[in-house]
Amino acid sequence: VGGEPFVVAIDGPAGSGKSSVSRQVARRLGYGFLDTGAAYRALAWHALERGIDTSDATAVLELMGDFDYAISLDPDAFWVRVGAADVTQAIREPRVSEAVSGVARVPAVRQAVNTLFRALVAASGRPGVVIEGRDITTVVAPDAPVRILLTAAPEVRAARRSAELTGQDAADVAAALHKRDASDSAVVDFLTAAPGVEVVDSTHLDFDQTVDAVIGVIHATVPAP
Ligand code: DC
Repeated sequence: VGGEPFVVAIDGPAGSGKSSVSRQVARRLGYGFLDTGAAYRALAWHALERGIDTSDATAVLELMGDFDYAISLDPDAFWVRVGAADVTQAIREPRVSEAVSGVARVPAVRQAVNTLFRALVAASGRPGVVIEGRDITTVVAPDAPVRILLTAAPEVRAARRSAELTGQDAADVAAALHKRDASDSAVVDFLTAAPGVEVVDSTHLDFDQTVDAVIGVIHATVPAP
C-alpha cells in the first residue's frame, strides 16, 4: 500500500503534443514525467555513436548489453544521459529521428527497455508518474488507472513539428513525420485506441486546452483531493 505511484499512461503519434502536454500535466499534479521515446532515442544515439547499423537487429540487441542510460523524471529539469554524455539535445537531431524506428523495432530491445521503465517508475519517489510513448496504454502499463490516446489531424501535427524545428523546410518536416508514422506504426499501433483507452483529440485545442482536457480525464477517474 502506498508503494507504487499512480500511473497516467499517454500514447500518441509524433506532433500530437504528447511530450509537452504530458510534462505540463505532471508539473500541475506534482507527478514525475517519463518520456519513453527519449529512451529509444538515446539508444539510437548510442548505436550511431558506435557506428552500428540500426537496421541490424542482432547488432542493436548486443548494444543493449552496455547501454548505460539515465533519464530524469523531473518535469522541471529534463535530461538524458548515456554513460557520461549528456544527450538531452543530441537525441532530437534529425539523424537520431531517422535511426530510432530501427532500434525500436527489435522486440527484445522493447522488452529490455520496458523493464527499465517499470523500475524507473517504481523508484520515482513521486505520488504519480505520467508515462508517455507509443505502447504505454497497451504494453508498458495496460493496468494504469488512467490511459489516454492523444491524437491530432496529420496536417496539424506536421504544422506543430515544423514550428518546433525552426529553420527546417515545412514540406521536409511533413514528409519526415509521415515517414516516421509509417515505420513506427509497423511496430505498435498508436493511432487507434485500445479498449478502455480515452481519446483526447487536440486538433482544435491549443496547448492549455489540451492540458486541461487530460487533467479532466484524470479527475474523472480520481476526484481532485
Ligand atoms: O515520441 P518520440 O518521437 O520521441 O519517439 C521516438 C521514437 O521511439 C519513435 O520513432 C517511436 C519510438 N517509440 C516506441 O517505439 N515506443 C515508445 N513507447 C516510445 C517511442
